Order: sequence, then structure tokens, then C-alpha cells
Amino acid sequence: MYSRLRITTAMALVLAIVAAFGAFEGSWRTVLAEDAAKPAPEEQEPTEMGSPDVVYVGTPYDLVSVMLQMAKVKQTDLVYDLGCGDGRILVLAAQKYGVRGVGYDIDPERVTESRQNVAKNKVEHLVKIIQADIFTVDIGDVDVLPMYLHPDMTKRLIPQLEKMKPGSRIVCHEYGLEGFTPDETKTVVSNEDNAEHHLMLYTIPLKK
Ligand SMILES: C[S@@+](CC[C@H](N)C(=O)[O-])C[C@H]1O[C@@H](n2cnc3c(N)ncnc32)[C@H](O)[C@@H]1O
Repeated sequence: MYSRLRITTAMALVLAIVAAFGAFEGSWRTVLAEDAAKPAPEEQEPTEMGSPDVVYVGTPYDLVSVMLQMAKVKQTDLVYDLGCGDGRILVLAAQKYGVRGVGYDIDPERVTESRQNVAKNKVEHLVKIIQADIFTVDIGDVDVLPMYLHPDMTKRLIPQLEKMKPGSRIVCHEYGLEGFTPDETKTVVSNEDNAEHHLMLYTIPLKK
């Protein structure tokens, strides 16, 4: 009688374990299925995400060309534009050098505009646009980083910039990296606005 009771208890225990495992596996499968169904970040619809830290002003196209030349962009490079505006820097880099680029902007209007610009110029195979706050972006894999941001933002980005790979290049439009010495500086008058613009090239590791 006791041994029958022991067998029944053992069987109940086994059944409970099997049922618990089944439930766990089922919920795990649901999580995986939900993840698989989520669109990739570059395909997610832009939404309101927080105010931009600086308003949108595009770098004139002739200056973009000079910035890319200063960075000596080559086809194997990966270019990021933090605060990509209408995506012009990455579109031009893809067209001229065939390089891959990722653009980040917090403003949903800019994200939509950049994606339209990428599609219009048929460089979707090279350029992705992601809505994100630039202060959360991992830039460890980047080779070239053109930047046109408010000096306070550039200052806040320094810890991220210092984690870039040795040999990667940063080209700043108008506002350089405070406290660091550029490898090259250029003053260029743009044909678009007839104004003088200052460009600065830095190479990682940054020099004081
Ligand atoms: C001065 S524009 C530069 C646009 C582009 N890089 C160019 O040079 O043509 C700065 C861009 O940064 C974006 N921005 C501002 N704060 C941001 C943040 N915290 N995260 C992501 N983008 C931001 C703005 O929406 C704007 O499009």
C-alpha cells in the first residue's frame, strides 16, 4: 500500500515537472515569436521621442564633399551620422564612395525625410536610418563620423567618441571637440550660402 502511494506521488511529481517545463517552453516560444515579429530598428515607424537638443540645419552639400575628403573615406568604411537631419551626408557618401552608413535622429520628421532621401537616391542597400537619441548609440564599430552638432552635445559625446576604434576619423562642421587638437582644419566658403564654414578633422585616439 505504502509502495503504491510512493509510486503515485512520484508519478504526480514527474507530471508536475513535465507540465511546468511545457509552460516554460511555451512562454519562451511566445517571446521568441514576438521578437521575430518586431520590425528591425531601421524599419520601425518613427514616433514622438523627446525634443531634439539642437534644431535641424543641413550642412551645405559642397561642404559635405570636403568633409568626406578630409576623412579619406574608402569603400570599406562604416559611416555614422549622429543627428542625420535629411540624411544628405550618408546619401552623398554612399553615392560617391559606395560606403555603408547609419543615420540616427530623434526627430520623427527628420527620420521620415532621411528615409525618403535614401529611397529617392536608391541607396537603401547601403544606408539605414534609425530613430534614436544619439547619446544612447554605440559607435564602437564606426570608421568615419561627420558631426554638425551644438558644442554642448559634442562635449557630452566625448566619452562615446573616446571608445571609437583607433584610426577612426571624426570630421566636425563648425564646432570642434573642446579640449582636443585637430589633425587638420579647413575654412571653406560654401557656394550655397556664401558664408565661411570651419571644418576640423580628428583621429582616434584624440589628442589633447
Ligand atoms: C544641425 S542638424 C545636422 C544635420 C546633418 N548631420 C547635417 O550635417 O546635414 C542636427 C540634427 O540633430 C538632431 N538631433 C538633435 N538632438 C538629437 C538627439 N539627442 N538625438 C538624435 N538626434 C538629435 C536634430 O533633429 C537635427 O536633425
